[in-house]
Amino acid sequence: MTDSRPASILTQADALLRKNLVFQKRNIWSNVRLVTIPFFLCVLLVVIQLLFDSQFNEDHGQCGCLNEKTCGIRYSTSDQAAFCAIPNPSQWTPLLQIPSPQYRAVTTLYLSHSSPVTFLFTGNNQSLGETLMRNMYSNSPEFGGDLANYVLGSSSLPAYTNYMDSSFISELPIYNIKHQCSPNSSFSILIHQPPLSFPKEINCVRGLNLWRNSSSDVNKELFKGYRKGNQQEKINEYTAAFDFQNTNGNRLNVNVWYNSTYKNNTVIRPMALIRVPRLVNLASNAYLEFLKGSKTKILFEYIKEMPKPETKLTLDITSLIGPLFFTWVILLLFPVILTTLVYEKQQRLRIMMKMHGLGDAPYWIVSYSYFVLVSTLYMLCFAIFGSAIGLNFFRLNDYSIQLVFFLISINLQISVAFLASAMFSDVKTATVVAYIYVFGTGLLGIFLFQFFLEDPHFPRGWIIAMELYPGFSLYRGLYELSQSAFAADYRGVNGMRWRDFGDGMKEVTCIMLIEWLLLLVSAFYIDQITYSSKHPLFFFLQSPSKNKQHHYSNSNKQISKFFVEMEKPDVCQEREKVEQYLLESTGNCAVLCNNLKKVYSGKDGNPQKLAVRGLSLALLQGECFGMLGPNGAGKTSFINMMTGIIKPSSGSAFVQGLDILTDMDRIYTTIGVCPQHDLLWDKLSGREHLLFYGRLKNLKGSVLTQAVEESLRSVNLFHGGNGDKQVRRYSGGMKRRLSVAISLIGNPKVVYMDEPSTGLDPASRKSLWDVVKRAKRKGAIILTTHSMEEAEVLCDRLGIFVNGSLQCIGNPKELKGRYGGSYVLTMTTSKEHEQEVEELVHRISKNAKKIYRTSGTQTFELPKKETKIAEVFQAVEKAKKMFPVVAWGLADTTLEDVFVKVAQTS
Ligand SMILES: *[C@@H]1O[C@H](CO)[C@@H](O)[C@H](O)[C@H]1NC(C)=O
Ligand SMILES: *[C@@H]1O[C@H](CO)[C@@H](O)[C@H](O)[C@H]1NC(C)=O
Ligand SMILES: *[C@@H]1O[C@H](CO)[C@@H](O)[C@H](O)[C@H]1NC(C)=O
Ligand SMILES: *[C@@H]1O[C@H](CO)[C@@H](O)[C@H](O)[C@H]1NC(C)=O
Repeated sequence: MTDSRPASILTQADALLRKNLVFQKRNIWSNVRLVTIPFFLCVLLVVIQLLFDSQFNEDHGQCGCLNEKTCGIRYSTSDQAAFCAIPNPSQWTPLLQIPSPQYRAVTTLYLSHSSPVTFLFTGNNQSLGETLMRNMYSNSPEFGGDLANYVLGSSSLPAYTNYMDSSFISELPIYNIKHQCSPNSSFSILIHQPPLSFPKEINCVRGLNLWRNSSSDVNKELFKGYRKGNQQEKINEYTAAFDFQNTNGNRLNVNVWYNSTYKNNTVIRPMALIRVPRLVNLASNAYLEFLKGSKTKILFEYIKEMPKPETKLTLDITSLIGPLFFTWVILLLFPVILTTLVYEKQQRLRIMMKMHGLGDAPYWIVSYSYFVLVSTLYMLCFAIFGSAIGLNFFRLNDYSIQLVFFLISINLQISVAFLASAMFSDVKTATVVAYIYVFGTGLLGIFLFQFFLEDPHFPRGWIIAMELYPGFSLYRGLYELSQSAFAADYRGVNGMRWRDFGDGMKEVTCIMLIEWLLLLVSAFYIDQITYSSKHPLFFFLQSPSKNKQHHYSNSNKQISKFFVEMEKPDVCQEREKVEQYLLESTGNCAVLCNNLKKVYSGKDGNPQKLAVRGLSLALLQGECFGMLGPNGAGKTSFINMMTGIIKPSSGSAFVQGLDILTDMDRIYTTIGVCPQHDLLWDKLSGREHLLFYGRLKNLKGSVLTQAVEESLRSVNLFHGGNGDKQVRRYSGGMKRRLSVAISLIGNPKVVYMDEPSTGLDPASRKSLWDVVKRAKRKGAIILTTHSMEEAEVLCDRLGIFVNGSLQCIGNPKELKGRYGGSYVLTMTTSKEHEQEVEELVHRISKNAKKIYRTSGTQTFELPKKETKIAEVFQAVEKAKKMFPVVAWGLADTTLEDVFVKVAQTS
């Protein structure tokens, strides 16, 4: 009826997907919460922006504030002039930009402050040129009252605005250019700019005019004069240069060279142009003097800005704090993914699924796609809300760039989470580490990484090295996008487009793409060797051979070893049986263990622990084997080995002829496991569990529904809608019954049950036994239990397991016969008669042993060979006449006695 082939990858993926969808449907509210987080974050950003705007523009009065304390226009810094109203701009004498003393083309040794400032000039008529140049600045020592009479210059740079010329307030001196300086040619002026009023020293500097034969000579010389990098050696900076061309008595034709590359740090100051008009004025003034004599002058009195109204301080906060903020938003998914993965590992749900035939590939594909789906939805909501609310970050940059970048980054993030999940086994630790990663990355990004990014001298190689850290590459990408959005908003153009996809963006996209693929492969690889405990080189090793005989004969070599240890005859016999099967290589054994051992290596100086020492066992189809043994005897270790959770230290085992060392994946499709602790999803119902595991066992359609119904009925979960209740509403016993039902669905060939009936009420236990008995017909069952009654009812054979090895093996009757060859007599009298009771018992049987005594109650063991039950009754009757007997009883040995005996003697 059922398809005996194992489920295909597609079927498995389908089963997992259906299960996950139901699970997610139950979790709908936490999913909705997750997806709305971006919405709240966007709203938060907008609120911050509004707060900022109101704080800085309205509350503090007239114009922009630099910070809480400095609002309104200030004279020591002209930064605020960009925002404040300036109804009455002040007038400033025009200045020339002259090189700093140490860079000047002609330097006087030892005394760079008196180096002359140099002008180059050329033209068709050298003598005319010389005249004009001489006219430019006079040699007259007298002070003519008006500053416009002097040719003033400064080496300090103009500010962002022309509200005031910063040279007047800077530390650097203002120079007066003259043909010759005399010691008393410096003077001081009073700068009056309410509320400030202070004197400013004006120093004298010598001007030097140098003739060059042609304008191309001038070009060459200026070009050579440029400062290169930080090299201080070859510096020849010139103040300006003039080309008088074909100037003569009738016309003035002049070209002026000025240095437009003056800049402060990396910021180019366009206001440097303010220093140009004075140069033109000098040329025209010189020409006028040449024509009309030195009395005629065109005075260039002052430069004045237009009055302007207050402007608002607009700053796109989102684009500025964007990288930090958006890094957090995207990384917030990381803990969610990581904890989901670690949770399935910690709760051992993954191993449970695996033991019922879910392959690693479907698990990976479905989980990965699921996380990609959730992350994509999350990012989509983020981008849509962000755009709707009007965040420039989203609106101005090309959406396709954002799509590609976000897709790559979420994929990279999921791979990182998969890789990281291999390192954690505890959800709490994983959560803490994940959140440290999220917030740490953001903070390090803004305070360290961004600092390096913006430093032009920081080696690019190091930046790339830092970007190998996934958090920083994400930060870099967001940084680039924000910068584009910010610049675009400022200049009123479009943000990032594919055609101006910057170097930084290309770099991170490549890094992330490559890293994603590498991490995905290594995450899968690490998962395979740690979780599925495959050989580190599993990829290169051959796929396991399908020939059973090959395996069997291989393990024959180990057989000779075990006769060293002295063993009980029944255990030896089992060993020989195993040996026989191995030689015959018959495949009708459901389970065959050959000298299976497990040694836990000692930790922290403890000696190593032998959990299982050489177990040999052969189990036929349709047999139920019961494993008894005290706690810690190694039963669970044995089952863990057989189900592939731990690897045996030595020995071999075959399930349905498949080697547990190499063929575990195929074995999983034919076994069922009921673990000691229920591994169930709280949010799924019993029926959903069974449907899922049934699908994994390749049940389909009506066969599946029928199997699930039967299964629910058989474990008493069908009535009262129990099958459709969520498992978190189940009692402990119901969970246990569900676990058993799961292990039996799909008719597995071998079923392992670790204490299936613990915590069950007697009625449920009875029905459970019926289920197990029925299942026995279809496959072999290995069962551990502490209930002797259960073992006696269910098991065809029993093995008592003590200290890691089998002490005895056989069917319950045999064991009782072998170990329990005695009756147990218990008699209670008053304390004085104890001695008499003892004598009485010795009369019945010489070898009777007293095994228990307490204030009048004594228990004796009477060997069956010497004891006749009739004699016992007679003796008791006689005793009753001699002294009062409170109570007495005679019992045959139970399995429990056998168990206690075996456990004690070994
Ligand atoms: C150059 O200019 C001077 C006037 O300063 C004039 O006398 C002279 O003729 C000019 N020379 C030429 C070659 O035009
Ligand atoms: C300019 O030209 C004159 C002759 O025309 C020549 O002697 C002189 O060396 C030239 N100067 C330069 C700097 O080339
Ligand atoms: C022009 O200004 C820049 C920046 O101050 C300087 O590096 C360069 O040497 C100057 N060039 C000349 C010819 O003075
Ligand atoms: C840039 O300008 C500021 C003031 O405007 C000044 O303090 C600083 O020294 C300047 N830096 C350079 C490299 O010129």
